Formats: sequence, C-alpha cells, structure tokens
Amino acid sequence: MEKEVTYNGLKFEPYIENATIKARIKTIADEIKRDYNDSCPLFLCVLNGAFAFASDLFLQTEGLNAEISFIRLKSYEGMDSTGEVKEVLGLKENIEGRTVILIEDIIDTGITMHNLVATLKEKNPAQIKIATLLFKPESLQRDIKPDYVGFEIPSKFIIGYGLDIDGLARNLPDIYVLKEDK
Ligand code: IMP
Ligand code: MG
Repeated sequence: MEKEVTYNGLKFEPYIENATIKARIKTIADEIKRDYNDSCPLFLCVLNGAFAFASDLFLQTEGLNAEISFIRLKSYEGMDSTGEVKEVLGLKENIEGRTVILIEDIIDTGITMHNLVATLKEKNPAQIKIATLLFKPESLQRDIKPDYVGFEIPSKFIIGYGLDIDGLARNLPDIYVLKEDK
C-alpha cells in the first residue's frame, strides 16, 4: 500500500486496506448466501464504480444460484454530486417477480439509489435489496436504507477499489481518503 497518492493535485492517504475489504466482503457474501438460498437473485452491478466490489462479492457467493448483470448511470462530476441522475442503461433482463440485489460502490446523498430503485420498481420485481461497499450516513438526503453495508464512513471523499476521481484511481487495490490540510 502506497503511503500517499496524488490525483489532480490532491493528496490522498491510506484508509481501508484491500485485505480488510476482502474480509468484510466475505462476511456479506455469506449473509447473502444465507438470505437468498431459494430465490435465485439477480445481482445488478452499478457501473463503473462497483465493478471491483461486484466481482469480489459475486465470486464469494459460490454455491448460490444467482445471476449477475450490469447497468450504468452517472451522477457525479469530479468531487461534487450534480444531483442529477441519468437514465438506466443496459438492463436487458426481465426483473418481474425476481429478487434484485443492487451492487453499488458508495451511497453518499442517496439520490442515485433512490432514483434507481424508483425506476426499477416500475418493472415489478419481487423485491429490491441494496448492497453497498461504502455508506456515508451523514450525507444522506433521501430515505434509503442499504441492506448490506461494507463500511460506514464519515462524509469524506475517497478513491480506490473502483472509486474514482475524474475517472482515475479505480485501479488502486486499497481505499484512500482525501487528506485534509492540518
Ligand atoms: P449519491 O447519489 O450522492 O449517493 O452518489 C452516488 C455516486 O456518487 C456513487 O455511485 C459514486 O459514483 C459517487 N461518489 C459518492 N461519493 C464518492 C466518493 O467519496 N468518492 C468517489 N465517488 C463518490
Ligand atoms: Mg457509482
């Protein structure tokens, strides 16, 4: 793990190590295996940010009857939420009557998830569950309660393990937090 990384002139320091992330994901995968043993859930990975979490999580559900698919939306420019949620792209599956488990990298204001859940509900799934690697409860502006949370974190900007700053830093195996000038 690098001591410090710099992107766009901003310094980030180590926050959550890859081994810690992986261990937490194993626990969540075990819970999901237990909870959806009978329902052949469809995991829906929200691209781009959730690709790493989705990959590790899904592979840890070995033995569970499940499918995975990928959707894409975008609500973030640089470090400020635009609050705007664009349309859901890439959903080819019929989700009517199915258990859908949304896989998200991070819930910040909750606006993205709130709008996504509302859109998907129109397609009449049996239920929609939310698994997010990271959750910033203090930033929440919508009534959204994730069912599976990797880590609750303070309202700070983070990168790595899929999370980006202007498209970069997604390939860091560990998670880093924006360094505050002290
Ligand atoms: P929300 O709609 O405010 O909950 O934002 C959700 C999306 O914003 C996430 O899927 C991320 O793509 C992005 N996001 C929120 N916080 C961070 C962060 O700290 N680092 C990188 N991306 C973030
Ligand atoms: Mg995202």
